[in-house]
Amino acid sequence: MSAPAAVLAGLGTHVPRRVVTNDDLTRSLDTSDEWIVQRTGIRQRHWSDPGVATSDLAVEAGHRALKSAQVDAPGDIGLLVVATSTPDRQVPATAPEVAARLGLGTVAALDVGAGCSGFVYALATASAALVAGHAERVLVIGAETFRPYLDPADRTTAVIFGDGAGAVVLRRGTTDEAGALLGFDLGSDGTLHDLVVIPGNGSRPRSTDRALAPEDQYLRMNGREVFPHAVRRMAQSSSAVLATAGWDLDQVDHVVGHQANLRILYALARQLGVDPERVVTHLEQVGNTSAASIPLALADAAAQDRFRLGDRLLLTSFGAGLTWGSAVLTWPGTTPA
Ligand code: COA
Repeated sequence: MSAPAAVLAGLGTHVPRRVVTNDDLTRSLDTSDEWIVQRTGIRQRHWSDPGVATSDLAVEAGHRALKSAQVDAPGDIGLLVVATSTPDRQVPATAPEVAARLGLGTVAALDVGAGCSGFVYALATASAALVAGHAERVLVIGAETFRPYLDPADRTTAVIFGDGAGAVVLRRGTTDEAGALLGFDLGSDGTLHDLVVIPGNGSRPRSTDRALAPEDQYLRMNGREVFPHAVRRMAQSSSAVLATAGWDLDQVDHVVGHQANLRILYALARQLGVDPERVVTHLEQVGNTSAASIPLALADAAAQDRFRLGDRLLLTSFGAGLTWGSAVLTWPGTTPA
């Protein structure tokens, strides 16, 4: 029986023009193209130029998503959710400025901070608002500017992260429509909050008299320890969301996982028992773009004509927090802009 649901109506992306290859990084870091490709799958990433912040990328992607959804009147959007771990400033949130620059007027606008799971968390937030009738259309943007947070001397993070933004328009529709979001599973384990962290941001470091060291502004990640949690949590969350939707794994046409590491994506596929051919990968081109990674991967696969109308998609993500989140939807045949 059909029920109200959020339906994907438009998709847009933006990455900064500057491409940084693995070889570029070997000039300043003790690393190699071979190590980065073998251990992560990443071949290049895009980094923002100095002066470019997350809202700049978000606005570009937002414009394109609105165009893709053929939304002309700004008043048609009733809520803007920006998922990011790299907001322009701690106060205010980034979303209101993005809304203003997109011409969305006095729309409700908020940031969601859930690390690399941010986009799926933001989709769930937007979907709940639509189903509850708080809005007819919602713009969801995942956007990150990691370059200023990467320690140029830390080869364990500088080779991994990239900048970019991806946005979707969701509209209020029904579960039987192509594009309907049919279930979510979200979770967190804050006992492991220190595995991926920017130590110098926020009230915790500022609550002490200790002067902040310049290195405290950089992102730190214990990748080796995070790895097995990522595989396990995404596998569990995927199974949970499939159960919610009543789908069997063999009905899933495409798995679009958070693009952190090819080895994680293929370990996830093994754990789930999914043919690796059904796993969408995009990190080779953009690295780990955190909250932007799933919409960027969706748009890339759609642009390559990988999805057919009505295909069943499983989205699954994992990140700092620790957080994880999964969603299932059918493909609406949207052309990304
Ligand atoms: N170039 C060359 N060597 C490197 C390197 C680099 N860029 N980065 C690390 N190394 C070295 C390490 O120093 C270590 O050397 P040692 O054995 O002499 O100590 C060795 O390579 C192995 O390091 P390790 O950290 O175990 O590598 P890994 O295989 O776990 O790969 C990650 C590192 C970060 C790619 C991987 O752990 C990962 O993807 N983790 C999960 C990330 C994630 O999902 N995050 C959450 C979302 S943001």
